[in-house]
Amino acid sequence: MKTSELEKLLTQMTLPEKIGQLVQLTPDFFAEQGEVTGPSNYWHFTEEEKYNIGSVLGTRDKKQVRHIQEAYLQKSRLKIPLMFMADVIHGYETIFPIPLALAGSFDPQVIEKVASISASEATEDGIQVTFSPMVDHVEDARWGRVMESNGEDPTLSTALAKAYIRGYQGPDLAQDPTKIAACLKHFVGYGAVKSGRDYNGVDMSELALHQNYLPAFKAAIAEGAELVMTSFNSFNGVPASANKYLMQDILRDELAFEGILISDYSAIAELIAHRVAEDKKVAAELALTASVDIDMVSDCYQHYLSAADEEKIDQAVRRILRLKNKLVLFEDPYRGLNNADNAKTLTFSSEYRAEARKIAQKTITLLKNEGSILPLPRSKSVALVGTKADSTDLLGGWAYKGDWEKASTVKQSLEEKNLHVETVGSASQSVVTLEEQALMVEAAKNNEVVIIAVGETSRTIGENKSKTKPELDATQIRLIEAVHAVNDNIVLVLFNGRPLVLTEVLPLVKGVVEAWFPGTEGGRALADILVGDANPQGKLPMSFPETVGQLPLTYQEYSTGRPNTPVNREAPYVTKYIDASNQPLFAFGYGLSYSTFVLSDYSQSSTEFKADEEITIEVSVKNTSAVAGIETVQLYVQDKVAEVVRPTRELKKWQHIFLAAGQEQRLTFTLTEADLRYVHTNLIAASDPGEFLYGIGADSTVELTGSFRYLGE
Ligand code: NOJ
Repeated sequence: MKTSELEKLLTQMTLPEKIGQLVQLTPDFFAEQGEVTGPSNYWHFTEEEKYNIGSVLGTRDKKQVRHIQEAYLQKSRLKIPLMFMADVIHGYETIFPIPLALAGSFDPQVIEKVASISASEATEDGIQVTFSPMVDHVEDARWGRVMESNGEDPTLSTALAKAYIRGYQGPDLAQDPTKIAACLKHFVGYGAVKSGRDYNGVDMSELALHQNYLPAFKAAIAEGAELVMTSFNSFNGVPASANKYLMQDILRDELAFEGILISDYSAIAELIAHRVAEDKKVAAELALTASVDIDMVSDCYQHYLSAADEEKIDQAVRRILRLKNKLVLFEDPYRGLNNADNAKTLTFSSEYRAEARKIAQKTITLLKNEGSILPLPRSKSVALVGTKADSTDLLGGWAYKGDWEKASTVKQSLEEKNLHVETVGSASQSVVTLEEQALMVEAAKNNEVVIIAVGETSRTIGENKSKTKPELDATQIRLIEAVHAVNDNIVLVLFNGRPLVLTEVLPLVKGVVEAWFPGTEGGRALADILVGDANPQGKLPMSFPETVGQLPLTYQEYSTGRPNTPVNREAPYVTKYIDASNQPLFAFGYGLSYSTFVLSDYSQSSTEFKADEEITIEVSVKNTSAVAGIETVQLYVQDKVAEVVRPTRELKKWQHIFLAAGQEQRLTFTLTEADLRYVHTNLIAASDPGEFLYGIGADSTVELTGSFRYLGE
């Protein structure tokens, strides 16, 4: 349809028809028998109102989509097709590692591939919009939703956010029915909920907002993201869904977002519980005035918008019709479905699963490997124990149609490699009973090496899963201690959706493998790593704290008047704890390999450069081991003096380098003026002339020994 035709359609719509477009409901409103049940009843939607709404959230298969769309089109006067949205977060049926793990690949191409396969599977089931990517800046492992994030570094998150959009949407949604519209979330500040408690309030500076929380949104909007979702939290005292400053001034004006703004689930109605709206009418008006286009699952818009709001309603309807048009729904209300019926489906194909395995290999992170306990020598006998030893709970939260039973367990995956392991699992996914522990210890005694596979469960990570103790279950720690008493050749394999405090158990084990929730093919990818068929290359996208009291924690420590430096750590009156260090247990960007890499011969193109110039920094990287491997070489920069207090270091660039055994190669990093910008007190990102320090290394603890001067214009 042309824009003029969309405008004509708008003029034909009655006010209730327009309001209907702004309403989103779940499929259970459309029970097959047509009776009004459950939530429909609760929100008092009449039959007529239901068949006037604009979109549906959370269908499970193509039959359901076809059924709802058919019934809807029969009953609706103007026959404007429904739009179908869902939380396709890290795969649809083929489940990839959780987003936090994916971020550990530091690889936008990985993200693009995941998003592209997710889109192709989801569209075959009639999904047209995904509520992904979540690009919230995060620093607090207590917040369960860190599993959906790109981790603690805004530059990494920005690069990955853009890749998600490219992968989901492709170059042109209209041309490609295997592509899906992407919804950025949650706008904005949700990652800063106080005490890491989900749905809690947020209080942050404008500077932090602009420096850390907005960049990923900004970049993904520039990349073409079609939708944005409001967050549950407040900012400056006003909940996001009613926050005109955030939504109008920042999102629409500053970030130039022209697409659909959707509330989070019932967030408009929740303005009443926030006590900023006395009733649903006020709630609806506040949200519409903030330019929220779609009310996700509440009846505020449906029942409380009126003719007085028509101009704003028109604006919202326009944006919704525009996306429906971009998705070609007016011509093909069954977008993707016909395609799926006709074409040979690739959903959950061996091809997609092979990708999932390769990708999981890139996210699994080796945190400790004392005495090269890994890879497992085939000559050694191995016991495999713990809650995850033979568990299919490998997919993680938000695994849309992922079938646990189709995931190959660690035990099965090692056996597929003809590695005989004496396995003792547990009945529960999280707890090891004393009886089970006794059997596990027995197995540990009988074998040379013990793999202890433990961690969180899919049900204890994600939304609504905040923890005050992001650590292993007490019975898992007890198991590690008990095994250590009989056999200290322990490899700890962790499945978790957030950084964990591992301080207590770290000295008891020789190897630590962070598997995250690695997805459908994660068991096999892990087995590949454990036996050395794949070489680990994952890097931590979030710092692992030494103790929970350090949270929130990021490697981007801000300078203080009383700095804590390697030389004054024991001195009084510097910023520090008296019962723990300031340092994480494992730093952002950290991750080992079976190869060893040595960096040397640093050089730079000049000692200074001007605004229209660039500076290049070179380093030689040598694989000094006998195993081929990939290193992610990272460049960190410090702006020595700035207008505002700045982090002591920031990741600016990184590169993956593959090196065969003994191979050496030179890497070149390029910095330009744009890389030196930061947010000033006027909230504008700009660079200042002056001196900069830098360091290139394998993680965020690298020493900043290099320097250059930026001369400005
Ligand atoms: C609530 C979550 O906060 C959001 O991320 C999700 O997309 C919606 N529910 C829809 O399921």
